[in-house]
Amino acid sequence: MTAATVAPSADPAAVPQRARRLVTELPGPRSRELEAERRRHVTEGFGVTLPVFIDRAEGSLLVDVDRNRIIDFASGIAVTSVGAANPRVAERAAAQLGRFTHTCFMVTEYSSFVEVCRWLNEHTPGDFDKRTALFSTGAEAVENAVKIARSATRRPNVLVFDEAYHGRTQLTMAMTAKENPYRLNFGPLPGAVFRGPTAPAHLAPADPAASAEYVAEALAGVETVLAEAGPETFAAMVVEPVQGEGGFVVHTDGFLAGLREIATRHGIVLVVDEIQAGMGRTGALFASEHDGVAGDITLSAKALGAGLPLSAVTGRAELMNAVHPGGLGGTYAGNPVACEAALAVFELLEDGSLLAGARGIEAAVRARFEPLLAHDGVASVRGRGAMMAVEFGDASGPRADVAKAAAAAANAAGVLTLTCGTHGNVIRLLPPLGIEPEVLDEGLAVLEAAIRGALS
Ligand SMILES: Cc1ncc(COP(=O)(O)O)c(C=O)c1O
Repeated sequence: MTAATVAPSADPAAVPQRARRLVTELPGPRSRELEAERRRHVTEGFGVTLPVFIDRAEGSLLVDVDRNRIIDFASGIAVTSVGAANPRVAERAAAQLGRFTHTCFMVTEYSSFVEVCRWLNEHTPGDFDKRTALFSTGAEAVENAVKIARSATRRPNVLVFDEAYHGRTQLTMAMTAKENPYRLNFGPLPGAVFRGPTAPAHLAPADPAASAEYVAEALAGVETVLAEAGPETFAAMVVEPVQGEGGFVVHTDGFLAGLREIATRHGIVLVVDEIQAGMGRTGALFASEHDGVAGDITLSAKALGAGLPLSAVTGRAELMNAVHPGGLGGTYAGNPVACEAALAVFELLEDGSLLAGARGIEAAVRARFEPLLAHDGVASVRGRGAMMAVEFGDASGPRADVAKAAAAAANAAGVLTLTCGTHGNVIRLLPPLGIEPEVLDEGLAVLEAAIRGALS
């Protein structure tokens, strides 16, 4: 789409400060120049959703190097839930930068690391004694959860699920379901990873008895996979409480509780991967709260550090302490600047307004897009809180073409929108939790027009 079709705002000076504004087509001339440099110096192995270069963030808008103001429905893939330029995060992180940037927690210690662990022990689901280990990335948290579960159980195998996404490192790539782009040509993948079925809520029968039967079938399928190698060989079962990259898939009521029961019965460590869905994203602090389920281990990352790399493995004290001293760690694990950012995030979550914001986003997204279900081509509107998605499909199957065209049109119009799903046929919305209502509304209106255009 070009500037001519996007219709940039008529008079930039008249546009309120906190509003979308396009002064060039996207990408603009300066972004194009920088993109040419990128092509010369950066590997082609990194994709990009919208090739604009960002100068700064303001509230829930990203301002690019051509002074375009873009509505952020991506939050850096569910990371900047408190906004990408939150003053409290900046203040705490800047103060820490002035004190020291790094010591390595395995060399000398600092109290912010301990404070982050304390908060996670107190706030993650599960009324039991907990300990936490901090790392840097989500994949690193997943890898370490598996290490801990193996060490505690002395069992090798790991169960994961259809549509799962757990990262791009060797083990987490094997745990991730989607072949292209995540696993393609990167084999051989590590073994000892088994995949079980799920019970997606958007495919569940409406009738409660039939829905219970549908969940029971999926759980029986899980038992069948465990039986392949013997349930006593499984160290961990790793599940996303709302699946992220796989398409914002909410599990049918009873499925996570069923996994909890199976894991307990077989002595398998239930690892709940809250890396994308946690830290308030779904309108609860942790998404597994919606299901009344507590993992033996809960994983956090992404929004935990508000953009500074920080991840956490929080679990039952006896599991977390089963690892031999020195068995866990990493040079940058729990970096002090990132820990200060997390402490700022905890402060910002304190009064519940961000959680309420997430719930408000769900209501606004449903009100805007559920009427589109009447159109052939819109298959479902799903998700929880500020983790909402629109799925495209019709009798011919998944419609990745519609998702792609609609997302491209929204992006060109200055509403940063991501796709996801095993078939690439899902548009997902991940706005900052405190997005201004008028900005949310404008972004949704632009996206609705883009979807209607792609469907016609
Ligand atoms: C559920 C889940 N687990 C793990 C990861 C991997 O996190 P990272 O990209 O920080 O390694 C992601 C990232 O999208 C995720 O959504």
